[in-house]
Amino acid sequence: MKSYIPLLLASVAFKPSYQSPAPITQNLTHGELPHRILGGVSVVDTPIVRDALEFAREHSTDWIYNHIVRSWLFGTLILSHNETLRRSVDPEVQAVAAILHDLGWDQTPHSPFVSADKRFEVDGAISARNFIKNHKDGKHWDSHKVQLVWDAIALHTQPSISEFKEPDVKLVGNGVLTDFYGPQLGVERSEFDKVLAEFPFLNVHEEFNETAVWLCRTKPSTTYGELKEE
Ligand SMILES: *[C@@H]1O[C@H](CO)[C@@H](O)[C@H](O)[C@H]1NC(C)=O
Ligand SMILES: *[C@@H]1O[C@H](CO)[C@@H](O)[C@H](O)[C@H]1NC(C)=O
Ligand SMILES: *[C@@H]1O[C@H](CO)[C@@H](O)[C@H](O)[C@H]1NC(C)=O
Repeated sequence: MKSYIPLLLASVAFKPSYQSPAPITQNLTHGELPHRILGGVSVVDTPIVRDALEFAREHSTDWIYNHIVRSWLFGTLILSHNETLRRSVDPEVQAVAAILHDLGWDQTPHSPFVSADKRFEVDGAISARNFIKNHKDGKHWDSHKVQLVWDAIALHTQPSISEFKEPDVKLVGNGVLTDFYGPQLGVERSEFDKVLAEFPFLNVHEEFNETAVWLCRTKPSTTYGELKEE
């Protein structure tokens, strides 16, 4: 378990000058982990992250795949602009959670990811946890790390809750939201456009609507949250 006390002290002592940010030392985003460039962004490049990406590619339509990759890259850009955040986020958690966050949108008949009775966010969280537990490296992740991925995916559409969760959980949601809202949280327009050039929106509005309609049609009771009288 990480201690947040050094982080707290560091954030008090550290007075960043955000007006003129220092050149991004991208390597710091990933600690000692290997990295590569994707969509102009330096991303963490470990076997589990690579395999998660391949898994998502296999189980996503083109527009969903581009959306999840952009969500990962935008989250990584948010990190690269925020040293405080960088000290507390596990880049593999952010990567795996962002990459696997929409498995619950798999419309393949008899999809192993999609339940009849759970919100798509929960389907995604459970599927990502299964992926991690079945992976040669993931099976050695401690339970806290796995839990962060589960929470990040389950809460990625609920910023009013994830706001108060661990930085990893909040960041995954913010990466996804940046794909909906545009450049924010330090992400520059030029960086945003570079990502889009490699992973374009495709037919995102129609496809997103179609997916929402599919969820409403196939499992309406999971499409809103309320306290139920039993
Ligand atoms: C970052 O990584 C690159 C390539 O691995 C290396 O050339 C560079 O010196 C590193 N920069 C820092 C600040 O560690
Ligand atoms: C960086 O992240 C920290 C922790 O989430 C946040 O409190 C701070 O406002 C962020 N800084 C900027 C400039 O966005
Ligand atoms: C979404 O799809 C439904 C069903 O095809 C359609 O009736 C509706 O007009 C669409 N809404 C938008 C905003 O495209």
